Amino acid sequence: MAELTWQGKAVPNSDDSGLQHRLVDQQNYPLSPPQSQPLAIDALVVSSKQKDTGSQWQNRLIQADRIQALRTLLPEFAGQVNVIYIDPPFMTGRTFNNGSQLSAATRISYHDIWNNSLDTYLQWLYETFYYLYYLLDTNGSLYVHLDWRAAHYAKLLLDEIFSGPTAIRGAGFKNEIIWHYQSGGRARKTFARKHDTILLYTKSAQYNFHSERVSIRRGADRRNHMRRDVDDNGQTSWTIRSNGHIYTYTEDSTMSLADVWSDISHLHQRNPERTGYATQKPEALLERILLASSEEGDLVLDCFCGSGVTPVVAERLKRRWLAIDQNEMAIAVTSKRLLKGTRLYPFVIQYVTNIE
Ligand SMILES: C[S@@+](CC[C@H](N)C(=O)[O-])C[C@H]1O[C@@H](n2cnc3c(N)ncnc32)[C@H](O)[C@@H]1O
Repeated sequence: MAELTWQGKAVPNSDDSGLQHRLVDQQNYPLSPPQSQPLAIDALVVSSKQKDTGSQWQNRLIQADRIQALRTLLPEFAGQVNVIYIDPPFMTGRTFNNGSQLSAATRISYHDIWNNSLDTYLQWLYETFYYLYYLLDTNGSLYVHLDWRAAHYAKLLLDEIFSGPTAIRGAGFKNEIIWHYQSGGRARKTFARKHDTILLYTKSAQYNFHSERVSIRRGADRRNHMRRDVDDNGQTSWTIRSNGHIYTYTEDSTMSLADVWSDISHLHQRNPERTGYATQKPEALLERILLASSEEGDLVLDCFCGSGVTPVVAERLKRRWLAIDQNEMAIAVTSKRLLKGTRLYPFVIQYVTNIE
């Protein structure tokens, strides 16, 4: 199989995973008063394999470098995470600031600077994927959100990791999703770069996927490959002949979503969802991903949670979650967002410390 190499490529050593570090609680957020009444756990429809989580479960917001946190989680969660979404630094060479009125030092969200070294970035990404792979459930899905700078490298790294010695049949690449948006300026010397890439990899052929939950209405707009008929009531129907069969669909019927997503807009300045955290992604993206690839009660992980879009949507959709970010500001913004909503489970803020 073709493999990507770079100077200093090294397979991480997970033998001692989690042994030198442990997670320590910093702050507990129990259920908010209106929710702690009969609702809570009874209201959760858990998938069969998650039933043993009972009332003990706490969602976790961890402030740590992703590897430190992932290694520490491995002994407890190896093979247990149903969906992973990550939106890591894209290798932009930039420092991102929060759009708030804070001092220059506290305004910094995070640095995406790699001393101009692609080798350093690739090793960093490779190590991240490696640990995520071991945390993923056999039926689980990994979504990796990048752009033109690194998506093509990431695909090769993921191909390698998902076909390693422990790979299960049918594991690997499933989709390259193009998230197309209109924000920002227009380049003059290239075609304007107006999309991000979200790679979907699964750990086996038996992955959880519900295209019907995220399907779209067929509608009445012109489609060149189908015949259009309009009945006396003005209702449009579509007909196509394929392999000797004729298929007819009404405009109200649904069709499964394609891999180019143009219907979710970037968060504009005045969007009420905006937290001011740089590079914040829309909740609609995560909603689509979590609805398609997980069930209520499933476990979702994001090790670059930033403004908290993944835990916030996971919470709303009744999924359990583990969210990590090394940045203090990210933890503050995420917890503030979470505290605004209602909670199905309590959550705890943790940090990683050495075992003495
Ligand atoms: C592109 S942003 C994520 C934005 C997020 N998806 C959202 O919608 O708000 C990348 C995040 O990765 C975090 N980060 C960068 N390096 C990290 C590391 N080594 N470990 C953990 N988090 C890291 C940054 O602090 C930043 O919040």
